[in-house]
Amino acid sequence: MEAAYAVLSPPAIVPLIPLINALPRGDGVEVGCYWGHSSALLEAGPHQVFYVDSWQDTADLDKWRHRMPRPAWDRAVRKPSVEAARDFPDGVLAFVFLDAGHTFQETLADIRAWRPKVMAGGLLCGHDWDLFLAKDGPGPVGAAVTTYCRGLGAEWEVLPAVRPQLACWAIRV
Ligand SMILES: C[S@@+](CC[C@H](N)C(=O)[O-])C[C@H]1O[C@@H](n2cnc3c(N)ncnc32)[C@H](O)[C@@H]1O
Repeated sequence: MEAAYAVLSPPAIVPLIPLINALPRGDGVEVGCYWGHSSALLEAGPHQVFYVDSWQDTADLDKWRHRMPRPAWDRAVRKPSVEAARDFPDGVLAFVFLDAGHTFQETLADIRAWRPKVMAGGLLCGHDWDLFLAKDGPGPVGAAVTTYCRGLGAEWEVLPAVRPQLACWAIRV
């Protein structure tokens, strides 16, 4: 599974990068950074990005640091997702990209914690719409996104992806 993170993640976030980079310049957050493949793509964009991950194994944080430029190290937040969300005021972030826990409950908890932090006009987005290629639905991540959005009457989009299980999703705030 760890190798799969490293190999599959970078291409899957690529369709999101133009949407994120087109947002008004501001601060953004990636939640779930692992070895920094998607972090490196976000760091190359126009926003100042904070990088949240529990990095339970310090070797993974070391690999993330190895991939990232030194100034980004000070923007690494080594905390559980929902706890880290409390460090940010409401309505201040241009985007939040979620790629941490992938169960229904973890994804819903992350959406509920981070959605209020995004400013009007910003983007709450994530990865792995149908990670397990569910036969009778979009899988746990997609189910959490649709459950959340239907409860609010909000819309979501799923971006085209070469591997549909890894597709990115986005909610315009
Ligand atoms: C799929 S990997 C992230 C891959 C990365 N975005 C990439 O493209 O290379 C998931 C990461 O989320 C982190 N994670 C999982 N649950 C978390 C939580 N509740 N809080 C913080 N980090 C978490 C794990 O430590 C792991 O590094």
